[in-house]
Order: sequence, then C-alpha cells, then structure tokens
Amino acid sequence: MEFETKAVHVGEEPDLERGSGDVVVPIHLSSTFARKKVNEPTQGYEYSRTGNPTRDALEKRLAVLEDAAFGLAFASGMAAESTLAITLLHTGDHVLAFDDLYGGTRRLFNRILDPHFKVEVAYVDARDPRRVKEAIQSNTRLIWLESPTNPLMKICDIAAIAEIAKEVNIPVVVDNTFLTPYFQKPLLLGANVVVHSSTKYLNGHSDSVGGAVMLSDEDLYRKLKFNQNAMGAILSPFDSFLVLRGIKTLAVRMREHERNGLRLANYLEEHPKVKKVNYPGLRSHPQHALANRQAAGHGGMFSFEIRGGLEEAKRFLESVKIFALAESLGGVESLIEHPGLMTHASVPKEIREQVGLTDSLIRVSVGIEHIDDLIADFDQAFQKIA
Ligand SMILES: Cc1ncc(COP(=O)(O)O)c(C=O)c1O
Repeated sequence: MEFETKAVHVGEEPDLERGSGDVVVPIHLSSTFARKKVNEPTQGYEYSRTGNPTRDALEKRLAVLEDAAFGLAFASGMAAESTLAITLLHTGDHVLAFDDLYGGTRRLFNRILDPHFKVEVAYVDARDPRRVKEAIQSNTRLIWLESPTNPLMKICDIAAIAEIAKEVNIPVVVDNTFLTPYFQKPLLLGANVVVHSSTKYLNGHSDSVGGAVMLSDEDLYRKLKFNQNAMGAILSPFDSFLVLRGIKTLAVRMREHERNGLRLANYLEEHPKVKKVNYPGLRSHPQHALANRQAAGHGGMFSFEIRGGLEEAKRFLESVKIFALAESLGGVESLIEHPGLMTHASVPKEIREQVGLTDSLIRVSVGIEHIDDLIADFDQAFQKIA
C-alpha cells in the first residue's frame, strides 16, 4: 500500500462485524470502560489514560507512516521528548545533540535533564559525522538529531551517524517534525526512534497540540508505553481525532508546502534586501546534495537573513498581512517569526550567535495559499523597509 493510501485508511477501517460501519473512527470520550468480569477489561480497554480506541487508531496510523512497528501519541511534542528522555536516560549519562535544535528541546536538556537528573548534554555541529564520532564518550547514551534543524536548516547525514552509533550501541533519535515521513524516513536510514511535534505538519491545521513517537524496538516501546501511562503524557481523544483527520491530507499538503516553499525561497534569494536564504531545496544550500539523497523533498520550512539588523527584521515581520506573525509551523496558513525573540528566545544570546542564529534571521513556514499572494505580501512588506 502506498503512503497516500495508508494515510487515509490505516487505523480507520470500518468495523462491519461489531460496530456500525463508521468510515471515520468515533471520538471515544469515555474516561472509563465497563466490564462484565472483574479481571477481563472489555476489548482490552479499562481507563482512557492507559488506552483509548481513538488514540489507538491514531497510533496505528502513526506507526505505518514512519515504517515503524509501534506508534505512541503524546499530549505535545515536548511530552513525547520528555517521556523519551526519562525512559532512555539515567543520572550520570551523557547526550550528544545537534547544536541547532528547537529551543524547547534545548530548554528540556539544559534546564531539566541537566540540573534535575545530572544528565550532561553536549552540542555538536552534526553536519560532519566525524564530529559526532569524536564527541562520543564512554557514558554517551543517546544521540539527538534534527534534520533539517530548526531554524537554520542544517542537514546531518542520518545514515552515517546511525552507523557510527550502532557500532557503540547508542540509540539515535531523530525529530522528523519538519519533513514528516512523506519526505524523510529516519528509521529506514538507521535511526532507532522518530519523534514529532504533531502540532505541526502531521495535524497540519494549527488547531491541536500533540506529539508522537514511532519505533520498532518492542522492548523500548513497552517501556515508553508504561512510562507514558505512569506519567500521564497522553493525547486526548478529541486531539487524536483531529490528528487522524489531518494526516489524511498530509501527502497533498506536503507537496503544496514544498511547491510554495521553493518558489518563495527562489524569490527571496533574488531579492536585494535579503542577505541569505537557508532552504535545503536551493542549489546554494551547502548540503543540497545530501538533502536530495536523504529526503524525497524539502518541505515548506526555511529561514532567511534580511539585510540590516533587528530593526529591519522587526519592521518586515510587523508589515506582513497574509503571513501571521506567530510561533509554530506546519499549518495550511503561512506563518512567520523571529527565532531570536520568539521560538528560540530561551537559547542564550551567546549560544545563538555561536550557531549562526542572528538578530536578522527570520523563519518562514510556507502555507498552501496561492503563491502570487504570498510573494505580493512579501513585496509590500519589503517596501516598508528603507
Ligand atoms: C522541531 C520541533 N520539535 C519539537 C517541538 C515541540 O513540540 P510541541 O510544541 O508540540 O510541544 C517543536 C515545537 O515548535 C518543534 O518545532
């Protein structure tokens, strides 16, 4: 079965034997499930934190999309990441992470894992797999990657890093939020676990906050499921329904996001008021060849540096009309933001400067509106800058 077909059907097959044949899975709001016998939960369900039929349907679909054996749906991307971290790590462990990551992931590592659990996190420029190899210590227990990274769109060679990690038995987690399994399948490249903020492209309509983990290691899946239930980081039935619905159009949306992304990135690259565009789909991206090899497409996320500094960036951001000046990404509507002051404000300024996250950097999540309207919106916003 092809991706588009699985995205529409898996987990939502109509039940013609015991059910009413709904083609859309019902939103099972019940917090608890009645049973006939004390020690036999009806159809396996006992309490909705532990298991819920709507969430189960979504988890089945999440798994097949990433070519994984198992999927888990969490209350947010950060709930997924926290549960993974607590499951995989212990006091005294060492983590290697890409030096350009979503700010909230860094905050989890630096403000919670490090001070509360004495887990040390080292950041490396994972664009070169040799740097990852050199940074591995005897207590390294996890490698955490994004590709492309948020917001600088750096790429790492997932297969090469997975190969290095496999030799020393260190699990590799890839945050696949930006490209989604429609464009990139980290597990097939050798990674052990995929994590998503389903708030973004998987749901795709900016109306649900959620997270997902996909993996094929049964032992780790069971530990994660146990911890998720124990800590309560589950996705609600209504949000599970929304993400199930959103995923049905994932392939169609991703194709449009990419089409608009490439057009807009090309437009910006030619613009005299733009210093640099970071989009792996452009030939000018230093890792364009790797991006082409590793992923089937480049998606709708990019960042660019406007000429000038913070003042020019702010004026541009406050002048756009169709783009919403907002955090988050991956919805059908175009969003724009200033990483330094918004999504990555929790990253200290000196670290931001070290990795190249300047005050003139603007991040764009291109929606599926008509490209001419998006370009016209940028045109009028550029005119507001002297
Ligand atoms: C790449 C990436 N990973 C994880 C997260 C965290 O997800 P959530 O906001 O759903 O907790 C985000 C949020 O912006 C993100 O962009």
